[in-house]
Amino acid sequence: MKARAILLLSLTALCFRPALAETLREAAPKRLLIGACVNTEELKNPKLAAIIAEQYNCLTPEYELMPEFMVDKGWRFTFERGDRVVAFAETNKMPLFGHMLVWHFVTRNWLFEDKDGKPLPRAEALDNLKRYIEGVVGHYKGRIVAWDVVNEAISDQANEFLRPTPAQRAIGDDYIEKAFEFAHAADTNALLYYNDYNIEQPGKLEKTLKLIQSLKAKNVPIDAVGIQGHYLLNWPPTNMIDKGIEALAATGLKVMITELDVDPLPRDTSGANMAVTEAGANPYPDGLPADMQEKLARRYGEIVTAIVRHPSVTMLGFWGTDDGHSWLNDFPVKKRTNHPLLFDRQLQPKPAVDAVIRALKTGK
Ligand code: XIL
Repeated sequence: MKARAILLLSLTALCFRPALAETLREAAPKRLLIGACVNTEELKNPKLAAIIAEQYNCLTPEYELMPEFMVDKGWRFTFERGDRVVAFAETNKMPLFGHMLVWHFVTRNWLFEDKDGKPLPRAEALDNLKRYIEGVVGHYKGRIVAWDVVNEAISDQANEFLRPTPAQRAIGDDYIEKAFEFAHAADTNALLYYNDYNIEQPGKLEKTLKLIQSLKAKNVPIDAVGIQGHYLLNWPPTNMIDKGIEALAATGLKVMITELDVDPLPRDTSGANMAVTEAGANPYPDGLPADMQEKLARRYGEIVTAIVRHPSVTMLGFWGTDDGHSWLNDFPVKKRTNHPLLFDRQLQPKPAVDAVIRALKTGK
């Protein structure tokens, strides 16, 4: 009798349960993973951690795996922070994307430069690159499914192909292919990608195609290209994103959108060059007004509609979950109150969530 009563009660509860609002990952077509960057601070907040676990089906540690946080001058690796994100991803059965192995920010310049900032001899710099990549990719072998091997190597200057960086100066342009080879040797199963901003746009797109073609011609183990997707309310136009994805996919590589956010605040530069700092207004310190909220939602909807049209795109990752934790609170203008993500500072879903869900469904 008692068991029957419990069963009846549970059935009634099931019937009257309010329909679960759809999550981002449920709305997406099966071929498309939906992710976000997360950091160890965010994971300490149980409400935020629950949203992350519910909305996405893959993750990227925001900064925990950057060389500056991974290794000290005496070649001592510290995996503790990275391991915490890996553990969270494993608990929630989410594949983890490793960000990043070579970049010119948040790094350790001594891998490629002497104490006076002069490039190390090529052989020494190559040894260091190999030792670093083996150390990190080796540690996470089988637990991190994909690596952003080289981040932002392409120059923003019209007359320059690759950006001069400590790695490029010490080793030469082939530091890129070497990094992919070392990563592949350290974990042959990991999916390896090149990642950059504005590469879907004329100018950088051509250079990216050139880089990919030259890597492919040399049989370099590259599987995918990541378009970061740090966008503004009115730049780039969605047909440019569309064409860029198409051109990149035509190389035969998989395409991913790795760091999507939409900056609704006024600024002079587009893209994500962290060397840029601007002075600028902070117009919405108390929250985004309704009309701006609508504009942001519409823009997110249009961008995601353009992205899901392409079966070549296998992953769409947001660069954060809530506005309070976005890097855009400090870039390109320091200390602003920014509102670029899908959840607000109180962790409430913004109208953009609905717009993205509707857009994701158009790709099914
Ligand atoms: C930012 C992170 O959000 C910050 O936490 C970190 O201090 C610096 O990097 N392009 C990238 C990301 O590839 O790593 C950057 O993220 C944003 C621009």
